[in-house]
Amino acid sequence: MSRILKHTVELSVYESIDALADSDKELMLRAKKVSKTAYAPYSQFYVGAAIRLSSNEIIAGSNQENMAYPSGMCAERVAIYYANSFHVDARIDTIAITARAKEFDVNHPIAPCGACRQAMSEYELKQKQPIRLIMTGETGEVFIAESVEMILPFMFNEIELKKK
Ligand code: THU
Repeated sequence: MSRILKHTVELSVYESIDALADSDKELMLRAKKVSKTAYAPYSQFYVGAAIRLSSNEIIAGSNQENMAYPSGMCAERVAIYYANSFHVDARIDTIAITARAKEFDVNHPIAPCGACRQAMSEYELKQKQPIRLIMTGETGEVFIAESVEMILPFMFNEIELKKK
């Protein structure tokens, strides 16, 4: 006998960033702005991530590539590691993520890669409060997830590392 376990992923969908609450739109505009600092000569895919801390301060980061490809770093992790280096005790409220490309229009929301979801989930578990994620492309719709767990179902948990 077996049974089926199902996870439901729920996202709020907005027509464009203009439909967002003011503070979310502001955060996304910061993500768009910081995507201009991306160093992405290899992929020519420019990602920006902006984090709103509970203090309302905004931290932003962009992807940084390297000629030894795996040495590069995604925008989300640049921003989240910066936030946790310089604001150790601050709670992360929301992360806005966006991307644009040199050769084509990114006209739909981009979702963080698996490694970034894992990295973000660490801080969500640490702070014991959900981190909201706002995702969009250069144009088009916006997706909002109410937590990292929502887009990382069945996540690895530190409980597994605890000795009985
Ligand atoms: N990238 C990010 O910055 N965040 C993601 O979540 C996915 C991918 C970057 C890594 C690389 O510099 C480029 O986008 C193409 O994969």
